[in-house]
Amino acid sequence: MRHVTTSILLLTLIAFGIFSCGPGDSGDNGNNEESGLSEFEQQHGIGPIDEPMDIPESIDMDKVEQGRQLYRSRCSSCHRMDQRHVGPPLGQVTESRSPEWIMNFTLNPGDNIRNHPVGQNLLREYLTEMPQQNVDKDQTRAILEYLRYQAQDG
Ligand code: HEC
Repeated sequence: MRHVTTSILLLTLIAFGIFSCGPGDSGDNGNNEESGLSEFEQQHGIGPIDEPMDIPESIDMDKVEQGRQLYRSRCSSCHRMDQRHVGPPLGQVTESRSPEWIMNFTLNPGDNIRNHPVGQNLLREYLTEMPQQNVDKDQTRAILEYLRYQAQDG
């Protein structure tokens, strides 16, 4: 008899445990319990950009030229503008991803490939890990400007 009571108690505890950790239980601290990512990271990737960027509407042509050079030497071996290569095409990436995501992914590919669901999906599709690139924040910002220019002019 005592056994039965204990079993029922255990079952109740287990059931509670399962249901209280369900996907609906996201809490309100901005952290997703499953991925451990903040709400900002879920939307914009993991990396040094952790708040919304202030980007003027107009394109800065000096940055575009700097970005063009950098892109040619560091990125174009794996990325085409309009078709899949080693990595995804980037000609319209500013349409599908936020500037913060593009910056974070470029500055910190490894973390995003391993720990971000969007990065994990990209790796599943492209099967090559984008290596850490030797670019700093300013250089990446210039590449972003070049990609914005590409998306606009095709
Ligand atoms: C050695 C190949 C390689 C190089 C060089 C490379 N990438 Fe990548 N990149 C990839 C691959 C492959 C992916 C897809 C994710 C994965 O599998 O790692 C990717 C993904 C990306 C993404 C995410 C696209 C999306 O849809 O979210 C961005 C942004 C990106 N790369 C930017 C760059 C920039 C900018 C450079 C140059 C500074 C660069 N990459 C250099 C291979 C490369």
